[in-house]
Amino acid sequence: MAKSTTEHRDWYDTPEYYDIIFDADTAKEADFMEAAWQRFSRVSEARGPRRVLEPACGSGRLVLEMASRGWRVDGFDLGQEMLAFAKHRMKKAALSARLWIDDMAKFSAPNQTRYHLTHCLVSTYKYLLTEEAAQAHLRRVCEALLPGGLHFLGVHLTDYTRTTCEHERWTEQRGDVSVVCNTRGWPADRRTRLEPVRTRLTISRGGKRHTQETRWNFRTYSAAQLRRTLREAAPNLEVVGCFDFTYDIQSPRKFDDEYSDLLLVLRRR
Ligand SMILES: C[S@@+](CC[C@H](N)C(=O)[O-])C[C@H]1O[C@@H](n2cnc3c(N)ncnc32)[C@H](O)[C@@H]1O
Repeated sequence: MAKSTTEHRDWYDTPEYYDIIFDADTAKEADFMEAAWQRFSRVSEARGPRRVLEPACGSGRLVLEMASRGWRVDGFDLGQEMLAFAKHRMKKAALSARLWIDDMAKFSAPNQTRYHLTHCLVSTYKYLLTEEAAQAHLRRVCEALLPGGLHFLGVHLTDYTRTTCEHERWTEQRGDVSVVCNTRGWPADRRTRLEPVRTRLTISRGGKRHTQETRWNFRTYSAAQLRRTLREAAPNLEVVGCFDFTYDIQSPRKFDDEYSDLLLVLRRR
């Protein structure tokens, strides 16, 4: 195999590789949301199609999955490449969804649509780097939900006592493309509430291999900080369930710092 090269590149400019690396859990996440929908939702508007909104929908892996399960799907993202990829895959699957460019902190749904379900998983919420943006997003989510509708929020909580780097490495394959994802998270800065993250994707395709690297900051949350933001931004979003990234509805967890991968089920009052 030829020598590997490394480039600095936003991984959201290459949606195919992002999608390969994150697609493994897609069906599990959708199964969980449907099971939680059965258990926790209280929407009285039972007739007609069930509508779901995915803020920051990325490559559209969950857009496709939910649409193929009969949900009417809306989604938006700031990344043009991600959105184009999502649109293309929906067209290829002969499924439809309304997809548009928008910002999590400022979005508005077309024609003031109200949803049965909204979701923001895999720490995407942590891209909102200020309290103002984080609260604005939650307020908009709450407004977009029907009373009794559910919001799923998945975030990796921060351990502020950690002084060493966190690593994760996994590999996925699709056809003749293999992607190794190597992530590193540096200790959080308590004052700025930022944690630097770096991801390296090594892609092997057609006998060639290259590595691309992306760096960014996530906003940090302890369980108490997340509770406070939720309470201040959206008192009408009630926590009705707490789980983790195993997406097992039979295994509830406490909403505290004991387990870092937190999946909240919130219901609009
Ligand atoms: C980790 S990916 C998640 C994509 C998708 N929701 C999923 O579960 O696979 C994060 C996505 O958030 C988008 N993003 C980051 N900040 C955003 C913002 N302020 N508004 C909208 N999208 C944003 C990125 O472009 C990227 O597609």
